[in-house]
Amino acid sequence: MLKGRHLIDPMDFSVEELDGIFELAGDIIADPVKYSDSMKGKLLATLFYEPSTRTRFSFEAAMLRLGGQVIGFSEPGSSSVSKGESVADTIKTVGCYADIAVMRHPKEGAPKVASLFSDIPVINAGDGGHQHPTQTLTDLLTIKTVKGKLENLTIGFCGDLKFGRTVHSLIKALSRYENIRVILISPEELKVPEYIRNEILIKNKIEFAEAERIEDVIGELDILYMTRVQKERFFNEDDYLRLKDRFILDSEKMELASESMMVLHPLPRVNEIAYEIDSDPRAMYFQQAKYGMYARMALMLKLLGVR
Ligand code: NCD
Repeated sequence: MLKGRHLIDPMDFSVEELDGIFELAGDIIADPVKYSDSMKGKLLATLFYEPSTRTRFSFEAAMLRLGGQVIGFSEPGSSSVSKGESVADTIKTVGCYADIAVMRHPKEGAPKVASLFSDIPVINAGDGGHQHPTQTLTDLLTIKTVKGKLENLTIGFCGDLKFGRTVHSLIKALSRYENIRVILISPEELKVPEYIRNEILIKNKIEFAEAERIEDVIGELDILYMTRVQKERFFNEDDYLRLKDRFILDSEKMELASESMMVLHPLPRVNEIAYEIDSDPRAMYFQQAKYGMYARMALMLKLLGVR
């Protein structure tokens, strides 16, 4: 039962619970009208302490398309946060008004803290360079829908694997499926954190390799997951400038990939995918953004126990 639960970490839900979410998302995609009043009378609070386009809009669109309503802030400066209110007090207050809350915060662990003080379900919409479990729901739903499976896949993660929270969450989630092979493509300075390497990849005996160039490995991949270099997490601008254009996916590199390889990207894109790729049928990142809305519709229906 997912009713009343929080989603803070991608491992919070079992594989079976995730299947239930994907099944419901598939049903919504097939017949959205059937669900257009499901959330009547329900209120979502969006607490965004960091910038967002897709995550916030897709949550809001999800709630509105289910017939519910939305309150919130996208600029913490406009709320009592600017007066020094704690996350705990904010969520306790929000719980007096809303039925469910989604929080993005620059500090790792802030949504977790909120969940400990909350009377309503709290969803982590990204905490610093840590985790982003609803992007993972989006990614898994996209892969499952397009590839028809979540097993027996070789996935290349490219770019900022150190600060990229979507990468951390997706690697964690994939570690529970059969025969997953991971190829990590990043500069030395932006490799995955030790806990992902030791606690997830090595501990779960996931086959993984490292590469320095996309073109060396692209031919082996079923999925190429591109990411942006996370500028806002750098301490030093020179490092960012030196690393930001290290990997650029262009049509020359795409020629080396299989016909069925999917290109995913959580977006926003900066320079890492040339615009010429957008018309390639293997480029799935905008469909992925759309699946994100359906995944969040299904997630909220489950957490609120709406049938
Ligand atoms: C990602 C994020 O916020 O971590 N964006 C998103 O939610 N789709 C990726 C990013 O900002 O690079």
